[in-house]
Amino acid sequence: MAGIERFADAAALAEGAAQRFVYLADQAIQERGGFSAALSGGSTPKALYAQLAASPAAARLDWSRIHLFWGDERCVPPDHPDSNYGMVQRALLAQIAIPQVNVHRMRGEEVPDQAALAYEQDLLGYFGVLPPRFDLVLLGLGEDGHTASLFPGTAALAERARAVVANRVEKLNAWRLTLTAGAINQAREIIFLAAGEGKADIIREVINGPYQPDLYPAQGVEPADGRLMWFLDTAAARYL
Ligand code: 6PG
Repeated sequence: MAGIERFADAAALAEGAAQRFVYLADQAIQERGGFSAALSGGSTPKALYAQLAASPAAARLDWSRIHLFWGDERCVPPDHPDSNYGMVQRALLAQIAIPQVNVHRMRGEEVPDQAALAYEQDLLGYFGVLPPRFDLVLLGLGEDGHTASLFPGTAALAERARAVVANRVEKLNAWRLTLTAGAINQAREIIFLAAGEGKADIIREVINGPYQPDLYPAQGVEPADGRLMWFLDTAAARYL
């Protein structure tokens, strides 16, 4: 059963999510000596990164023990305006003391299939096993029900063996790199972040509608042995 946290607006949501990130990081570092998080693209997650960058509690974190990964990436170079890595770099990484070796970006500038294989090797190097067990996976939600780069009707939804794949998204006429649901679902905690009235319909469908993960890939996010949380503002949660 998923937990739902409601916030007055998008700013309060970003603050709440930043606090949760700091809490989980502290706890993981104390209990297991390190913290691993997979980050998401999108506007709602971006507000969280800006909040973290400005937070005194985040500044006190031991970033040398934190490893950041990405849940998905657009197939563009890191300095491209559409790059998810580039977005996090500007919003967060440029403001915190994290060693460069702890920042594990997906290589959107490479041939997609090769970049996906290389990212699996990167995950294997850190976690020692695939699929990885992230301490935290942050996810956005698209109005079509996509999450990470798991879009409705795409090949990545049928993938059962791989942790990372290149996924062709015809409606965007683009390739994406993405964690598979199988990899996401091994996480200790998964948080969806969604704000605004535009997300209200799809949130109702994903949470309370019939189970149709090919149509609404976000429904395929079901942690095997972890916690699933929805961080929503009141506008996004209006039909729950
Ligand atoms: C991406 C994402 C994607 C995103 C959603 C929600 O790279 O685009 O990782 O899954 O999180 O599309 O985006 P918004 O928060 O901007 O609506």
